Amino acid sequence: MSPIKIKPIILANWKMNLSVSQSIKLAKSLAKSLAKVDKVEVVLMPSFSALASVKKVMGKKMSLGAQNVFWKEPGAFTGEESASSLKELGVRYILIGHSERRAYLKESDEMVAVKTLTALAHNLTPVICVGETFTQRQQGQKDVIITRQVEQALKAIILKPTQEIIIAYEPVWVIGSGHAVNPEEANHTARVIKNILLKLFPPSQVNKQFRIIYGGSVNSHDVKDFVPSLLLSGVLVGGASLKAPEFTSLVKALN
Ligand code: PGA
Repeated sequence: MSPIKIKPIILANWKMNLSVSQSIKLAKSLAKSLAKVDKVEVVLMPSFSALASVKKVMGKKMSLGAQNVFWKEPGAFTGEESASSLKELGVRYILIGHSERRAYLKESDEMVAVKTLTALAHNLTPVICVGETFTQRQQGQKDVIITRQVEQALKAIILKPTQEIIIAYEPVWVIGSGHAVNPEEANHTARVIKNILLKLFPPSQVNKQFRIIYGGSVNSHDVKDFVPSLLLSGVLVGGASLKAPEFTSLVKALN
């Protein structure tokens, strides 16, 4: 995962925090404040209801991401959203298996795997979230959990040369806590993830078509402690992406 070939990526996971009008306002503001940013890729991930309007006002520099996708094609699946509709809205990245979905919606490793397949089938880039809970960490299970989550998500994947997968390491106990994990620990886990990838895919594919990023209480002050490193090529940002000044500083810190 050498950080040289591609720009660092910063994904703004707005979760369900903003209304449609608030999302539009924030996207407009970032389109202005980040107009000159060209050394990092910024991805805005609003809720489904705000995707179309955010796309209209966000300008051409930033990319659009969705926070979820269903694994079936359009059909009788009440309340779900298809990859083809998301693609039509201009979505490029799809968050899959975020810990909040694993916890509240009981999203399983199997669901993460089929969603990943679906995203790739539509040439959308999956951003697969993996991470341990505090209890799992205390029990010394961290690497076991990460290994299981990554292996299960990717076991059926065959990547075309133009496709890419992002793995986001997000320690569950750190999300929203205001305290990011020690960067050394994030890098250690990135190494664990890279080793799993090397067991599943040829090294050239791992180097060119996978990125590993970190998420969990990243802010404008500590983002540079994480990225770029030999193994981490981006960040997934929640809380610090909700206010234009803080997110602008965070992006500029890497630019
Ligand atoms: P946080 O959220 O930055 O607020 O910790 C990150 C995430 O959940 O993706």
